[in-house]
Amino acid sequence: MGEKITLSVIKADIGGFVGHSSVHPQLLETAERCLAENKQLIDYKVVNIGDDIDLIMTHKYGVDNPEIHRMAWDVFLECTKVAKELKLYGAGQDLLSDAFSGNIKGMGPGVAEMEFEERKSEPIVIFAADKTEPGAWNLPLYKMFADPFNTIGLVIDPKMHKGFRFEVYDLIKNEKVEFSLPEELYDLLVFIGAPGRYCIKSVRSKTTDEIAAVSSTQRMNLMAGRYVGKDDPVCIVRCQSGLPAVGEVLEPFANPHLVAGWMRGSHVGPLMPVGKNDLAPTRFDGPARVRAMGFQLSKGRLVGPTDLFDDVAFDKARQTANEIANYLRSLGPFEPHRLPLEDMEYTSMPQVMKKLKNRFIKIDQDDEAMEAKIGAK
Ligand code: F6R
Ligand code: MG
Ligand code: MG
Repeated sequence: MGEKITLSVIKADIGGFVGHSSVHPQLLETAERCLAENKQLIDYKVVNIGDDIDLIMTHKYGVDNPEIHRMAWDVFLECTKVAKELKLYGAGQDLLSDAFSGNIKGMGPGVAEMEFEERKSEPIVIFAADKTEPGAWNLPLYKMFADPFNTIGLVIDPKMHKGFRFEVYDLIKNEKVEFSLPEELYDLLVFIGAPGRYCIKSVRSKTTDEIAAVSSTQRMNLMAGRYVGKDDPVCIVRCQSGLPAVGEVLEPFANPHLVAGWMRGSHVGPLMPVGKNDLAPTRFDGPARVRAMGFQLSKGRLVGPTDLFDDVAFDKARQTANEIANYLRSLGPFEPHRLPLEDMEYTSMPQVMKKLKNRFIKIDQDDEAMEAKIGAK
């Protein structure tokens, strides 16, 4: 057995530039400087999507390592100092607690980590999205690892033909469940078709039991009567040699699907695949967007990234996303453009209800009053 490598992607929104649209270069420089000083990492990259900073790191300490998590937390604290100095918007917003508790999960930042033995060649795609939620990966992960119309490898590659195991989180009940595909495909779909609640956390090969994909889906916390902690997500996918090819991993994004997020986290709109020149969601805090970074790992070294959606072949997807966006935007504050009441991140409902409290009358009573009136005539 060779030595195992851990790939950790830890992300947070430490303050927007301008509003919630982008990350100020000084924050990226600060994160770079902090990671450069760290002795535990084999390699690292600091990138952004919209207003989120992603720390992409390789090391040998395994997943959920308290020292690695603390280090990422400290990087975000340093970035927060700069964000506060520049008065960036929402400075430090994703650091939900004042004190680090040993594991960064549930404290605001998003985490996707996997540990594996590096193969002879280890191609990896890291997806990072802004203005949407972890359930946004459900449809693409399903297509990559379970849909033969997307991934022909499921049909014609003997190393993929047995299928994959999907681990799904119920974010409300804090439970997880595993499905073996293709035989449990219909069972899986009953759940992951509801991405606001059931999210694919990881996928494993049934041929090798190897980890193939991991998302930043994590337990939500019930705070002040509301669930918090669903945030702009990241996802790591290993590719090739018994796993979906890079082209099969990117293909689901050629047809932009609808995700929850956008303006005030309270809308539905298409997820647009973008290259690195289009990372800032400026229209109605959207379109929700995703970038795809390709790496070859070499003894833990992150060789890359290549900018995989910077390809004319995804122009049509971007055009379709803009067309869908135009249509949905025309619906304004009406569902299904606006999310159902219980799914919105913002709501003025309690205040409006309070104001109108005395004006609501029981419809039955109203009927009685009407009947009395009619009877009196
Ligand atoms: C979505 C998001 C933005 C903000 C919006 C309003 O996740 O972060 O769409 O919700 O810009 O921001 P506030 O309430 O801070 O003015
Ligand atoms: Mg923000
Ligand atoms: Mg964001």
